[in-house]
Amino acid sequence: MRVLKINCRRPALKNIKIAAQSIRKGKLVAFPTETVYGLGADALNAAAVSKIFKAKGRPLNDPLIVHIADKEDIFRLSKDVPGEAAELMKIFWPGPLTLVLKKSGIVPDIVSSGLDTVAVRMPSNPIAFNLIKYALTPVAAPSANLFGRPSPTCAQHVIDDLEGKIDILIDGGKTDIGVESTVIDMTHKPFRVLRPGGISVKELKDALGEIEINSVNDNIICSPGMLKHHYSPQARLLLFERSGEQIKEMRKMALEFKKQGKKVGIMTTSENQKEFRGFKIKAIGSEDDLKTCAFNLFSVLRSFDTEKTDIIIAGGIETTGLGLAVMDRLRRASSKRC
Ligand code: TXA
Ligand code: MG
Repeated sequence: MRVLKINCRRPALKNIKIAAQSIRKGKLVAFPTETVYGLGADALNAAAVSKIFKAKGRPLNDPLIVHIADKEDIFRLSKDVPGEAAELMKIFWPGPLTLVLKKSGIVPDIVSSGLDTVAVRMPSNPIAFNLIKYALTPVAAPSANLFGRPSPTCAQHVIDDLEGKIDILIDGGKTDIGVESTVIDMTHKPFRVLRPGGISVKELKDALGEIEINSVNDNIICSPGMLKHHYSPQARLLLFERSGEQIKEMRKMALEFKKQGKKVGIMTTSENQKEFRGFKIKAIGSEDDLKTCAFNLFSVLRSFDTEKTDIIIAGGIETTGLGLAVMDRLRRASSKRC
C-alpha cells in the first residue's frame, strides 16, 4: 500500500493525479472526505467495485454511495431527479448530504446491491473533490473501515483496518466532521432520512418541510447497510441514555464490572468526567459542543480498543443537531440499551 501525504488546505495536484490514475486503472484508493475516510473505486467499473466489498469484508447486499465532483453528473446517474433534490443540491452540496434516487442504466448492479436506486453525494473536502475530478469518473466509496467497525477519521485508522488490502492511502489528516453524511431517500414522498449525519434533520426540515426519519428501532430497514449492530468497537459497549439517573446507573454498572475484574472504560462528556474518579475516562467533548462530540466519537471508540478495554460504559448526549448522528452510532454500537 502506497501512502501519499497531502495537505488538505493546499492539495498537491501531482499526488492527487497519481491517485486518480489508480482509480482509472481499477485500483482501490482510500481518501479523506469532510465526514470520514472513504475507500474509493471507479463506480462504473463493476470489477473494481467488487474489490471494495472484498477488502472491507462487506456483504454484497449493502449498497455504496457514488461520489461526484460536478453537480451535473447526477443527471447521468439518475434520470429521475425531483425538483426538491435539485434544491437540496443547491443548498448543501458540496457537503455531507447523500441523496437516494432512482438509478440510471450506467450504474452497475454491484454498486446499488441490485436495488433500482443509487445514493449520490458531492464531497467538499478538497482532496476528495480533486481526486474525483481528475479520475474523470464517479467514485464509489464506503467508509474505509473493516465492515462493522467504527468509521475511520484519520489515516492511522485506515492503516489499522485495511493495510495490505488496498493500493493507495491518501493521508490528509483528521476529517472535519467525524460522522458520515446524512442519507435521505428522495424516491417517494414523504422523503425519509435513512441515516442521520453531517447535515441535521432541522436543516433538512427547513429546506423541505415535513420529512420522516428512520430510527434505530424501525423494523423496516430501508437502507440495507443501516444494520442495528454496527459501528462497533471490539469492546462491549453499554449505552445509558440521558436521564436524571444516568450518572448513578453508569457508576453502578462500572463498579459491578470492575469487581468482576473487567477493564472498564467510561465515555462521557467533559462536564461529567468528575463523576467517574478512579475509572479510565475519555471525554468526547462538552455537552454544549455537539460538533466536537461528533469529531471525537469514532477515534475515542477506537482508542478504547487499542487499550484492550473489555467494557465501555457510554453516556448518551442530546439528540439535537449533530447529536442525533452521534446517538444513532452509539445506539447501533451498543449491545444493550438502558
Ligand atoms: O460520509 C459518508 O457518507 C461516507 C464518505 C466516505 O462519503 N461514506 C459512507 O459510506 O458512510 P457507507 O457505505 O459506510 O454508508 C453508506 C450508507 C449505507 O448505510 C448504505 O446502506 C446506504 O448508505 N445506501 C447506499 N446506497 C443506498 C441506496 N441505494 N438506498 C438506500 N441506502 C443506500
Ligand atoms: Mg460505513
